[in-house]
Amino acid sequence: MKVLTICGSPRKGNSEAIADRLKGMFEQKGVENEIILLRKKNIQRCEGCVEYCNKHLKCRHNDDMNEIIQKMIEADGYVFVSPNYFAMPPGLFKDFIDKCSVLYTSYYFTKEPDLSKKKAVVITVGTDQEFIDACRDHVAKWFCETLRMKVVSKKSFRSRSELKGNYNDIFENGLNTNINDELEDIVEKLC
Ligand SMILES: Cc1cc2nc3c(=O)[nH]c(=O)nc-3n(C[C@H](O)[C@H](O)[C@H](O)COP(=O)(O)O)c2cc1C
Repeated sequence: MKVLTICGSPRKGNSEAIADRLKGMFEQKGVENEIILLRKKNIQRCEGCVEYCNKHLKCRHNDDMNEIIQKMIEADGYVFVSPNYFAMPPGLFKDFIDKCSVLYTSYYFTKEPDLSKKKAVVITVGTDQEFIDACRDHVAKWFCETLRMKVVSKKSFRSRSELKGNYNDIFENGLNTNINDELEDIVEKLC
């Protein structure tokens, strides 16, 4: 089984620390897991030229989304992990979401690729519970489910606004007492 983790934070922070922790858990189960850090990828913003993608069933930009979409087609499951910015994902992650519209368009016209067998997990982090949950639920319902993925778990974890140099703050800040168990549960549900 192959799980693809897409990390939507523009910095090396809590989302990335969670992705790393999950990778260790997947490895212990013998599950292949690749982490894609969107901050390290060249993703040009969707320009809305639907005349092109409706006709060619691909984006006219030759950027890193080609490789990411291919990996999404090959993977059996996904982890989407992102910060919450104003109850939404950051622009970096939203650019990724918008560029995934070729998956929607292609399925609409050709019934391929069919993502309905792909399991998805959505994890969001942020300082305020209400905002993080809103962001998480929005990504799960309007991104994952629109693309027909099967959302098997949704989690939100509370961060502090500054990491103060501690990459593992999300595990140590005292706000997420069961975080390791909850991540183990995610791995179980995905596998
Ligand atoms: C532009 C911006 C907007 C944010 N908006 C919110 C918000 O509306 N509610 C909230 O709880 N946290 C908000 N945060 C805090 C981040 O969600 C929080 O720092 C998170 O842990 C960042 O994730 P990361 O460490 O993976 O980058 C915001 C942070 C930034 C930079």
